[in-house]
Amino acid sequence: MAAHSKFFGKNWVDVSSVMRSELDFFLQLAASLKDAIRNRRIDDYKLARDRDMFAALLFYEPSTRTRFSFEIAALRLGLRAVGFSGTEATSVKKGESLLDTIDMFDAYDIDAVILRHPLDGAAKAVTEHLTRDADRPLCCFNGGDGQNEHPTQGLLDVFTIRECCGRLHDLEIGIAVDPKYGRTTHSFPILLSLFPNNRFHVFSHPDLRMPKAVIQHLEGRGVEITEHFEEPGALRRKLPDLDFLYMTRLQRERFEDEAEYYAARDLFLFTPDMMEGTKPSFGVGHPLPDNKEFPTIHPSLKGHPKFWPKRQAGNGVPTRLAEMALSLGLTGFEYDGEIYRPPSVEKLCYRDRSPGSQKERSGPVDIRPVVDGTVIDHVEGNPYVIQKISRLLKLCERGDIFRMGVVEPIKRPDQRKGVMMIKDRLLADQDLRLVATMAPGATINDIRDGRVVRKRDLFLPEMIEGLPGINCTNRRCITRHEYHEHIPVRAARVGPEGKNIVKCHYCNNLMQSDELF
Ligand code: NCD
Repeated sequence: MAAHSKFFGKNWVDVSSVMRSELDFFLQLAASLKDAIRNRRIDDYKLARDRDMFAALLFYEPSTRTRFSFEIAALRLGLRAVGFSGTEATSVKKGESLLDTIDMFDAYDIDAVILRHPLDGAAKAVTEHLTRDADRPLCCFNGGDGQNEHPTQGLLDVFTIRECCGRLHDLEIGIAVDPKYGRTTHSFPILLSLFPNNRFHVFSHPDLRMPKAVIQHLEGRGVEITEHFEEPGALRRKLPDLDFLYMTRLQRERFEDEAEYYAARDLFLFTPDMMEGTKPSFGVGHPLPDNKEFPTIHPSLKGHPKFWPKRQAGNGVPTRLAEMALSLGLTGFEYDGEIYRPPSVEKLCYRDRSPGSQKERSGPVDIRPVVDGTVIDHVEGNPYVIQKISRLLKLCERGDIFRMGVVEPIKRPDQRKGVMMIKDRLLADQDLRLVATMAPGATINDIRDGRVVRKRDLFLPEMIEGLPGINCTNRRCITRHEYHEHIPVRAARVGPEGKNIVKCHYCNNLMQSDELF
C-alpha cells in the first residue's frame, strides 16, 4: 500500500476538528492552488487526472456558490461530479432516509460526498455512519447543515480575511445581521480563534443572538466576543475600529416566527457613507446571497475596493479544491504536523468510595431506611428531579417498593436534597447512567442487611448515549424522532463533571443534561 499523507481520509464536517497547524498548511496550499488556477498551470492543480475518482454533490437545499464552486473545484482537480440539486427527482421524495441515500453512493464506490442538508448535524451523522476501509475512504464535506455549521465556507472566509487584512491575528471582526440562523457565522469565528488576539463584535436584533454554544466555544478559547443588540447605531460607531465586517442575509426560511423577520428586516444596511473613516485595509464581506429586495450591503458598493463578497465567493474554488485534494490523498505529503483525532470517550459515570468511611448516624431520620436495596442520596434539591428519576427507573411500573422525598441534610439544614430508597433492587449499569445524567453529584448506596456494602459518587459521563427516550431539545436536529432518520442522540459533557451542561454531538445545541429526557 502506498504511503498516504496525514490528511488522507479527513472529513470536513465541523470547524472544531480543524487544528491550527492543519489550517496553516491548508491556507498555504489554497493560495498556491489559486495562483496555479489563475495562471492555468494545469499540472499543478489537476491532481486527480487519470485517477477515475468521483465526487457526489448531494444538495438537499438550494445553493449557487457552494454547489458550483465545489463542482468546478472537483472538475479542475480532475474528479468527475454527479449528484442532485434539490430532491425533487430523487428517491428522497419516496421517503428514503439520508443514510440510505448515502449508502448508495458508498456502494457505487465514489470518493467524496459533498452534502448540504436542512437538518442540523446531518454531515456529522453521515461521517459516523460510513465504515469504509482506511485505505479507501469516502470523504465527507459539509456544505452547510441547517442552521448549525458551514465549515468549508468558514475556510474560504478565513482565507479571504487573510487576503484582505494581511494577517489572521490581532483582528477586530464585526459580524452583523443574522448570527442566530446564519450558519456561516458559526464557523469562521471558531477557525479565527486558533490565532491570537482576535476580538469579535456581533450586531443583531436581540431575537437573533449568536447561539450560546458558539459564544461558549469562543470564550473557552479565551476569545473576547461582545454582543451589541440594544444600541442603535452601534455598528456605525464601531466601524472605524474594525478590520473586517462580515454581513449576512436574514435567513428567513429558518425563522420560527415571521414576526422575528419583520422586526429585524430593516435594521442593517451597509451604505457607501459607512466606508468613510474605516481603516485602509478594512473589508466588508458576505457569504452571499444578498436579498435584492432588502439588501444588507448597498448595491452601489459592488465596485468598491473594500467590497469583498465577489472575491470571497471566488475563493470557494481553490479552497475547496485544496480540501478535496488533501482528503483524497492527492497532495499534502510533506505535512508533518498534527492531525485532528477525536478524543476517546470515557464511559464511566461513577467512582467508588469506601463504604467503611461512613459514620453511624444517630438522631431522627426523615425516611425509614431499607434493609436490602438501594439508597440514592444527595440528589440536587429539586423535587422535580427526584420525581423524574423515579419515572425513569420505572419504579411504579415494575411494582418496586420505594420511598422518596426532599429533606434537609442533618449537617446542612439550610439546604435541601432529594433522597430515594428502593427495596430489594440494586441499580444496573443503564440505571446508573440514567441517574448520573439526571443528577450528577448524587450518591448510590447498595444496602445489604442494613449496611452500606458499596458506595458510589455519580458524575456526568463524557458522552451520554444509548439511553432510552432521550431527545435533543433543538427541533431542527437530525436526531429528532419526527424526521425518522434513526440517528440516536449523543450528548457530550462540556465543562466540569459535576455540572450538568451538555452539547449535542451532532447539532452543537447546549442543554442541561436533565432536559434530554
Ligand atoms: C450561505 C449558506 O447557504 O449558508 N451561502 C453560502 O453558502 N455561500 C448563506 C446564506 O444562505 O445566506
